[in-house]
Amino acid sequence: MINTSEIAPDVYRISVFVPEINLQFNHFLIKDDEPMLYHAGLKHMFPLLLEAVSKIISPSQIRWIGFSHFEVDECGALNDWLQVAPNSKAVCSEAGAIVNMNDFSSRPVLPMQDNSILKTGKHSYRFIRTPHLPHGWDAGVMFEETNKTLLCSDLFHQNGDVVNLTDKDILSAHKSSMLEFEKGPLMAYTPYSHNTPILLNSLAELQPKTLATMHGSSFHGDCRKALIDLNDVMQEIWGRNDVLT
Ligand SMILES: [Fe+2]
Ligand SMILES: [Fe+2]
Repeated sequence: MINTSEIAPDVYRISVFVPEINLQFNHFLIKDDEPMLYHAGLKHMFPLLLEAVSKIISPSQIRWIGFSHFEVDECGALNDWLQVAPNSKAVCSEAGAIVNMNDFSSRPVLPMQDNSILKTGKHSYRFIRTPHLPHGWDAGVMFEETNKTLLCSDLFHQNGDVVNLTDKDILSAHKSSMLEFEKGPLMAYTPYSHNTPILLNSLAELQPKTLATMHGSSFHGDCRKALIDLNDVMQEIWGRNDVLT
C-alpha cells in the first residue's frame, strides 16, 4: 500500500495507493541540509507518511513543506508536520499565503514570488506561479534546479497503481484518466484558458529531466515535449466552447 522509491538523487517518492478509488497519492521528500517535503498529504494519511519519512530522515529535521494549491491531498496534514518538525515552515504562493495559509497554517509561512528561488543546501527551488493550473487561484509549482525535477502536482494525473518512475508515455494514461473523470463527479479537473498554453510552455522551457507527479508515475524522459503535448490533451478535453451540463 505504501511504496518508497528514489526517483532522482535524494528525491524520494512516497506513494500511497488507495484501492477504493484506484488512485496513488505521491509525496516527495528531498534530502538536503534543509529537507523539503512536497505535499503534506491527507490528514488521515499522516501516521503512515510519518513512518515512511522516518525511514529516510528524522521527521523533526524537515525544514520546508511545499505544495501547489490549497486542497487536502496537498496540505491537509500541514499542521501535523509543523508539530513534529519544530523548525519547519510551509512554502507556497503569495496568493496561497494571503487567501488560505495565514489562517490555516499554525505558523507563519514563506510566500514565494513568481520566479523566486529557495536554497536548501545543494538543492535550489524555483517557484513558478501557475494560477488555475492544474486548478486553484493559489496554484504554483516548484522546479528543483539541481536535478531538474519539476514538482508538478496534479499535472499528468494518472489513475491506477502504476509504476514509480517511467520513461514511457504517461500522456495517454493521463488522457484516459481525465476522460474517466469527465463521466462522474470529478469532471472539469482543470479550467482551460488562454493562459494554459502560456504556462505550460514556460514550464517546458525549464527543460525538466523528471516530472514528479502527485497521482501516477513520475516521468523521466523528454519532459519538455510532454509538457507541450499536455496542452493538446487539455485543450481537447476542457478547451471546448460548449457549456458544461
Ligand atoms: Fe489538486
Ligand atoms: Fe492531487
